[in-house]
Amino acid sequence: MGFQCGDYPETRLRRVRDKKFVRDLCQETVLGVKDLIYPLFIIDHPHKQEPIPSMPGIFRHGLDSLLREGEKCLEYGVPAVALFPVLNDDLKTPDGRQAYRPDSFLCHYIQALKERLPELGIISDVALDGYTTSGHDGIVDESGNILNDETVRILCEQALCHAQAGVDIVAPSDMMDGRVKKIRETLDRQRYFTTKILSYSAKYCSSLYGPFRQALGSASCLKGMDKKTYQMDFHNRHEALRETHQDIIEGADMVMVKPASFYLDVVALLKSSFKFPTFAYQVSGEYGMLKAACENGWLSEPKAVLESLVSIKRAGADGIFTYYAPQAAKWLQQEIL
Ligand code: PBG
Repeated sequence: MGFQCGDYPETRLRRVRDKKFVRDLCQETVLGVKDLIYPLFIIDHPHKQEPIPSMPGIFRHGLDSLLREGEKCLEYGVPAVALFPVLNDDLKTPDGRQAYRPDSFLCHYIQALKERLPELGIISDVALDGYTTSGHDGIVDESGNILNDETVRILCEQALCHAQAGVDIVAPSDMMDGRVKKIRETLDRQRYFTTKILSYSAKYCSSLYGPFRQALGSASCLKGMDKKTYQMDFHNRHEALRETHQDIIEGADMVMVKPASFYLDVVALLKSSFKFPTFAYQVSGEYGMLKAACENGWLSEPKAVLESLVSIKRAGADGIFTYYAPQAAKWLQQEIL
């Protein structure tokens, strides 16, 4: 085994569990507020805040409301937010060209956040699903194929536009081949040497994105189609190694596994293989499962949520995207566990 346990009665493993102080001293995993990243849906409105029916407790935020959420993050010690713009359907096009407009409300909100809360980290999503009439992350041809290289060209424009607006980290979540390489080249060419790339390197084709797609309005565009030709088959583990290795070689600064809880083996594998900054996304369906059980009184929300987040850290994640971020930060302060 590589380690030796003594025999009973000399060895009593319960000895280090009898008092809180000793349990604390022997605790192997520490979940801190600094590990949490808060994904936020945003809409083009100065004040509005819209509830999202598929995600109870989560809202689409207009500018004022976004700034309030940002302030809340800093107050609780949550270091970064990830922004997901929700567009009206009439702005969506087959080529998703709204994705790289420097005068978009997303760019405007990035600037406003940076001005008001300069210490708050901002991550932007690089993908086209919120902008295309197809609801896909890429450009679709007449036969229904997702065009890789054409899409990558647009993603580069999108990433550059976000960098110019002032984001700290661009996060390509589209799963096209070669996008990290091309985005890095584009950013470097324009001297955005410090803009970081957090690549969704092992993003699985999961049923757990349903509530997010409803929040974004891409579900109705997809009309029941799936993303199997670009997102990964969830039967595969070794493929996650290849995808992540590729992204690291192409210039990713951080990598990510998504979803998180059903994929802890993949988080552990990637962390132990690459020893790279590794993130995991507790996605909308995971939020939904926890929320529904807690609303029914079947689980205690603070305990179940913190346990789920600790398990993701224990698997090897350095940081976690979670819709529970500010709430979890509050529970951590209150030492619920
Ligand atoms: C797509 C994207 C998705 C999520 C984040 N970025 C959905 C998808 O791939 O369809 C899902 C996140 C969640 O479910 O919380 N660019």
